[in-house]
Amino acid sequence: MKISFKLFSLLMAISILISACGGGAKSETTSGAAPSGKTVEYTLLTNMADGQMAFFGVGGGVDGVKNPTLSANVGDTVKITLTSGDGVEHDVSFPDFNAYSEHISGKGSSTTLEFVPDRPGKFTYNCVVAGHKEAGMIGTFEVTGTALNNTNSAPASNTVTTSGPVVVNNPATTGADVVRDPTEIPARIPVRDPRTVRIDLEAVEIEGQLADGTTFTYWTFNGKVPGPFFRVRVGDTIEVHMKNLTNSTMAHSVDFHAVTGPGGGAVMTQTPPGEETMFTAKALNPGLYVYHCATPMVAQHIANGMYGLILVEPEEGLSPVDREFYVMQGEIYTAEAFGSTGHLTENVQALLNENPEYLVFNGAVGGLTAQKPLKANVGETVRIFFGVGGPNFTSSFHVIGEIFDRVYDQASLTSPALTNVQTTLVPPGGATIVEFGLEVPGNFILVDHALARLQRGLAGFLVVEGPENPEIIDGTVMPGSGH
Ligand code: CU
Ligand code: CU
Repeated sequence: MKISFKLFSLLMAISILISACGGGAKSETTSGAAPSGKTVEYTLLTNMADGQMAFFGVGGGVDGVKNPTLSANVGDTVKITLTSGDGVEHDVSFPDFNAYSEHISGKGSSTTLEFVPDRPGKFTYNCVVAGHKEAGMIGTFEVTGTALNNTNSAPASNTVTTSGPVVVNNPATTGADVVRDPTEIPARIPVRDPRTVRIDLEAVEIEGQLADGTTFTYWTFNGKVPGPFFRVRVGDTIEVHMKNLTNSTMAHSVDFHAVTGPGGGAVMTQTPPGEETMFTAKALNPGLYVYHCATPMVAQHIANGMYGLILVEPEEGLSPVDREFYVMQGEIYTAEAFGSTGHLTENVQALLNENPEYLVFNGAVGGLTAQKPLKANVGETVRIFFGVGGPNFTSSFHVIGEIFDRVYDQASLTSPALTNVQTTLVPPGGATIVEFGLEVPGNFILVDHALARLQRGLAGFLVVEGPENPEIIDGTVMPGSGH
């Protein structure tokens, strides 16, 4: 069941890609045909089907057809009525003809769009709300006849080819703080019997601060990246309540890797805006597990910030340490190059190409350096719960100037820990637990040792205070070295 759900998503993604590639505009330069004076009318209803968004035809030859092929002649007045069947914000647009409807939201709301196609060819129509085209809202628009005699007969004017994202210097923008404080972790679980633990998740789409002067529309669990850290004991039953805010533009859901069953809960939690879903599941296996949104396109929901960790403690619990921290790595795909200011737009094509502009710990550039560094003292032991949301990049997790005394490889708590490790691999949808003692003070830097990613935002600080320990490290900083 889990396999077929994921396979389904994959097939949908592939079919969307194919249909998105099929609509090249054929230009014709023949002069002639005047507007026909004829009107072609279609009614489309927005709705969810199998976790995908779609347009459904209403009436006529397209009644009930998902993303029906619409057709007209050059010069016809095309009149499209769009009605909301799902209450989610949508529009219908024919980008090749620069025709965009008003946005509608709220079940039953409706808008009408009129335009006159001026050239024949096979085009596409889609919803322009971020991510909706990729989530399934795309169809074919066929125009027959001869191009009208005007200068506009060139292929789609909005098809611009560039050699890649460029730095854009728009006026600085400020948004919400989406950085999860790395110390926001529930306390260790004392030895106790299994019980039911309630987990409240809320899908929040929010304009957040990505970097200095730069904002991005995040999709989050509970307003921060990553989502809340949950802590249960093996044998506990989790009761998951998944709420999606009314102002959301997307359906959202949650797949817990700690859960045994279809979609890890995702099948039961596909939640439209303004609604709430619930499921219960037993935590059978101890370990540290990723959870993430699993609404198609899943990679897009993850890239926009929808991931977190849940710790399932073994019966005897974890050993005590002085400090615990919660860090997750993710990629952000924007149309504008790294370092741009203003509000950046997501770039689904870059996501499909696995070509991110930003890589971040806990959601934003500077999140765990300038803003919320990890802090500890000499003589203490620390434990870092580290996970990768991704969706695409494996992390070579390393702390500059430290050696991990213990690594719970792949976040397995039932295998013996590795000892004395410099760098540990963490795949997307995976996690690790590292522990180490602090012998000397200083600024230790958390990185993915694929260090080019440091230049795209991926760094965190562990600031350690206390007395120097020259027996362990000593020396003189050379004058003029900049230190
Ligand atoms: Cu839409
Ligand atoms: Cu989502």
